[in-house]
Amino acid sequence: MAFSPGDVHTKKRLFHRTDCRHAHSSSPACDDAADAAQPENQKKESPVINTRREKTKGRRPRSRKRSAADRGNYFKDFRYNKIRPVFSFYHLFDGERKNILLSTFFLLIKHSPVWILPIATANIINALTTPEGDPVPIFIINLILMSVLVLQNIATHTLYIRYFSISSREVEARLRTALVMRLQQLSISFHEEYKSGTIQSKVLRDVDSILVMITQIFSNVILAGVTVAFAFVVTLTRKPIVSLFFLVMIPLAVGLMYVFRKRMRFNNTQLRVAIERMSAKINEMIEMIPITRAHGLEKVEIRKMGSHMTHVKKQGVKLDVINAFFGATSWVVFQIFQLASLGVTTALAFMRVIPIGDVVLYQIFFNQIISAVNFILAIFPQITRGYDAFVSLGDILENPDLEKQDGKRPVREVRGGFEFEKVSFKYPSMQSHAVRDFSLVIRAGERIAVVGESGSGKSTLMQLVMGFHRPQTGRILLDGKDMTEINLHDYRRFLSVVPQNTILFSGTIRENISYGLKNVTDRQIRQAIRIANADEFIFNLPEGLDTMLGEHGAALSGGQRQRIAIARAVIRDPRVILFDEATSALDVVSEKQVQDALELLVKGRTTFIVAHRLSTIRNADRIVVMKKGRIDEVGTYAGLMRKKGEFVTLKKLQG
Ligand SMILES: Nc1ncnc2c1ncn2[C@@H]1O[C@H](COP(=O)(O)OP(=O)(O)OP(=O)(O)O)[C@@H](O)[C@H]1O
Ligand SMILES: [Mg+2]
Repeated sequence: MAFSPGDVHTKKRLFHRTDCRHAHSSSPACDDAADAAQPENQKKESPVINTRREKTKGRRPRSRKRSAADRGNYFKDFRYNKIRPVFSFYHLFDGERKNILLSTFFLLIKHSPVWILPIATANIINALTTPEGDPVPIFIINLILMSVLVLQNIATHTLYIRYFSISSREVEARLRTALVMRLQQLSISFHEEYKSGTIQSKVLRDVDSILVMITQIFSNVILAGVTVAFAFVVTLTRKPIVSLFFLVMIPLAVGLMYVFRKRMRFNNTQLRVAIERMSAKINEMIEMIPITRAHGLEKVEIRKMGSHMTHVKKQGVKLDVINAFFGATSWVVFQIFQLASLGVTTALAFMRVIPIGDVVLYQIFFNQIISAVNFILAIFPQITRGYDAFVSLGDILENPDLEKQDGKRPVREVRGGFEFEKVSFKYPSMQSHAVRDFSLVIRAGERIAVVGESGSGKSTLMQLVMGFHRPQTGRILLDGKDMTEINLHDYRRFLSVVPQNTILFSGTIRENISYGLKNVTDRQIRQAIRIANADEFIFNLPEGLDTMLGEHGAALSGGQRQRIAIARAVIRDPRVILFDEATSALDVVSEKQVQDALELLVKGRTTFIVAHRLSTIRNADRIVVMKKGRIDEVGTYAGLMRKKGEFVTLKKLQG
């Protein structure tokens, strides 16, 4: 490993440069890194961040225009309440009501010709059919009025869409941001339980359904309502008896909706759940493709997916049929009503109770009302789907399984001493404990290797150290403080993790290494990749540090990925380092090189190394041998070898 004393010196500076954890640090880089690491609603509570902010105040005016997402106010504004979704829905528009009102205003103006046209038509017919008086002026006035009303549509329609779009797109962003923020706050247990496809379906499909519902409510439902009200009022002033017909329509429509509503909502939920499941399965299937191919199980997978598709199809058909039955029933009922109304108004005109033009007027009104009511009934399924989607967001937005850090003791410094006091932890879905009665005192800066057979609880122990899970009994103390009482966000900024499976995102190697840190210089990155022994392969790539990874990007080997993860850990200058089988994917040569690098990196930092290759942990201060969640043996390499216990047995198994 090429690592000179000069490197160690610059390494220290490198770390110093990115050290953003002390309360008095005032570098803009630190400010931003802290910004990136902390959810907005937590920033208020953390005195560490506040001090930092005050210090930078005035020095770095944020002149660039910040989007609402930057301000992170979507979630703060939006409080979801699953028990009263209607209230939550109302609050979704907080701050947007002015735009909604303006858009509604322009909607009504732009649509006005449709309501006025029947009156103008009736006026003209009445003038023509009345022997006395000159029909020409009436004809001209009504025609001019209609032309003006029709022409204004260009401007008002554009304005209506403009204001509506501003508010609906804001709501869309608000909902998705609220979901994303909540997903970032929900515990790791929640994420282990929920399939990513299900969550994806909520963030994408359900929010889309809600937007469709909003569009329908703020355009078609409002228009339909005004149409019915207008026709009713005009009729009431002209001939109250005819308005009785219109009056009956409303309870009839409401009655129909009531009868069908329960069934439609039930079928909607069934279909949504089926789609969520399918989405989760498709995600899983895509991830599994290399394994599936390698085992020649393509047909099995296709068949498995086929059964999900069939389920979605069946649920979809059920819903379509009930929707169709509902639509047809309401159409027939209203047509019968229209015929009855035509009969009555014709009879009234025949008896000279109303003028002939009014028969046309009432027929157009009746037609409009029927169309409006029918339209509402037709979009009712979309509204139900949107409502169901809105309620379903509660699974995420109201899930109580949060990592709450509010009011927890801030962590300004971590030395890295841990005390495990009879710690036991059981996954809810498991019968037995993954970690049981685990007691161990770890000094700051100590290097602990954790070994044990598969499933003995090593990774779970790492998750407990990260604070991802809480012990059900016993406690873990960090530098003498109970980990349940400290702010884990603060603590984790002193922590670097190289997990069992390296996770890289689509972006450049540079972005992957400097993940979450701002203003990281090339030199720092080069130092980090040298320490991680990744320099050779990275600089052999055509674009070096700027090589894209992920979708359509460069494909890296397991060992190369892991070394990038190590560089990511290195650059954060941690006080506590967790390597979960960090060396398992490396070949013998690079494993030796990484080992050498780690020797330098881990000095003075508390390190937990989960290792399967027992030969690689000779230098650990102590080795913890785990068996079925318990500590079986603890000691130095030499001590355990002398003891000839479980460690020696494990070593023999490895040959
Ligand atoms: N998310 C989870 N939900 C339920 N049970 C889990 C979960 N993760 C692990 N377990 C169970 O907890 C026990 C300990 O698992 P853990 O992953 O800690 O073992 P490990 O020692 O890291 O194994 P390996 O060496 O194979 O990585 C196992 O019995 C495992 O089945
Ligand atoms: Mg593991």
